[in-house]
Amino acid sequence: MKTLLIIFVLNLWTETLTDQSPGPGPEYADVVFLVDSSDHLGVKSFPPVKTFISRMVSSLPIEADKYRVGLAQYSDELHAEFQLSAFRSRGPMLNHLKKNFGFLGGSPRLGNALREAHRTYFSNGRDRKQFPPILVVLASAEPEDAVEEAAEALRKDGVRIVSVGTQSVSEETLKAVATAQFHYRLRTVRDLGAFSLNMTQILKEAAQSTEGANPPAEAQVSRALG
Ligand SMILES: *[C@@H]1O[C@H](CO)[C@@H](O)[C@H](O)[C@H]1NC(C)=O
Repeated sequence: MKTLLIIFVLNLWTETLTDQSPGPGPEYADVVFLVDSSDHLGVKSFPPVKTFISRMVSSLPIEADKYRVGLAQYSDELHAEFQLSAFRSRGPMLNHLKKNFGFLGGSPRLGNALREAHRTYFSNGRDRKQFPPILVVLASAEPEDAVEEAAEALRKDGVRIVSVGTQSVSEETLKAVATAQFHYRLRTVRDLGAFSLNMTQILKEAAQSTEGANPPAEAQVSRALG
């Protein structure tokens, strides 16, 4: 009887240990960059944005079991550059950026872009516990439409939003869009160069943040049931 009890306790103990072994949380994520390509940003400020995206693609481990990256621009409409599943490695992605990623122009309709991005990039995907969905918004101006509801819908759906602002976008707008503390205000688009060095860590923290990331129990059950 005593032996059984000891075995039982030992079992519990080792199970607890193995449960904890995977570490503090997910290491990789599905990251979509949504960048302002409006007249407010302007064609002259587009190159630093392009460099920022190229740097991110170059510094993240982009592989089937690690990071996946998607890209979209916004002005009056959402312009999808590539889907999360489009490229399996960074080479072809960098090539696409070099050849096809150009400035659009128009009005900054971020609310519309958030709704479209939700539908286009986050309606189905990989296991979200292992690869949390993250949307990185680069905004240069006050949006010409409402953003709160669209951002809230994304966050409720488990998408963590990181907002990065340059030029004339307000702190309030960046806060209204972002998940928790993940909003950053830079002075100019040139600061994106230095900021790119911080982004990998920020993405890791966003992936592991629990704020708004766990849907209510019923939602999980109904998702599991299909
Ligand atoms: C990067 O992170 C460091 C340390 O947290 C901070 O001091 C610095 O201002 C950040 N750089 C930018 C450009 O945000």
